[in-house]
Amino acid sequence: MKMMIINASPRRDRNTAYLLHAVEDGAMAAGAETEYIDLYDFEPSGCHSCLVCKRKDAERCKCYWPDDISFLIDQILASDKLVLGSPIYFSEPTAGYRALFERLAFCCLSYDGGEPYFKGKVDLGFVYTMNGPQSYYETALRPGLSTTENILAGLLNGTVRVLPSFDTLQVDDYSLYAMGRFDEEHKKKVHEEQFPEDLAAAFELGKQMATDL
Ligand SMILES: Cc1cc2nc3c(=O)[nH]c(=O)nc-3n(C[C@H](O)[C@H](O)[C@H](O)COP(=O)(O)O)c2cc1C
Repeated sequence: MKMMIINASPRRDRNTAYLLHAVEDGAMAAGAETEYIDLYDFEPSGCHSCLVCKRKDAERCKCYWPDDISFLIDQILASDKLVLGSPIYFSEPTAGYRALFERLAFCCLSYDGGEPYFKGKVDLGFVYTMNGPQSYYETALRPGLSTTENILAGLLNGTVRVLPSFDTLQVDDYSLYAMGRFDEEHKKKVHEEQFPEDLAAAFELGKQMATDL
């Protein structure tokens, strides 16, 4: 059982990454083979609309753009599970997340109609981190997020698990930044009390996904 874990935050060692490392720990504890990738190491760019993947003589479910994202897509489609983590930027996942989504979804999308091209199954986990509270996530974000989750699940024949983490600590010392709208004391309290629970939930998500058939 192979699980790919992809961090779509440009920051390698903050909230999203902490949660994804916990997912990886949970998956490894359940015996999964894992691979953790920082997407921004790959300089992600979205679909270039070259349409080579739609040529009749092209191999299906293959992105032909000559960069590392195409190689990453090959790896994802050869895996059993994919966990994608992203911070929320202006009420959406990051540009890097979107870039990977476009490339992965488009090369698997059939323009012939009928059955999806991908015949395997890749189960999906989505981890989101954000400054906003749960109410903002549920009302403003969930409809858009579930659209992309469901598109991918449909194309990859997979199940979906989701883990959101709210009110994250964006910087260690708010006094150094012009971030007056945030209450540092509240942020630190959430980080000390709720974030460890989110980490535990992330560990559990990794474990569950590793054992899901
Ligand atoms: C460019 C930018 C835009 C952001 N937009 C939002 C937003 O719309 N809603 C929100 O709740 N948080 C927003 N945030 C906060 C991040 O989502 C939050 O700090 C997240 O946990 C960062 O993840 P990281 O620590 O893994 O980088 C934004 C942060 C940045 C840098």
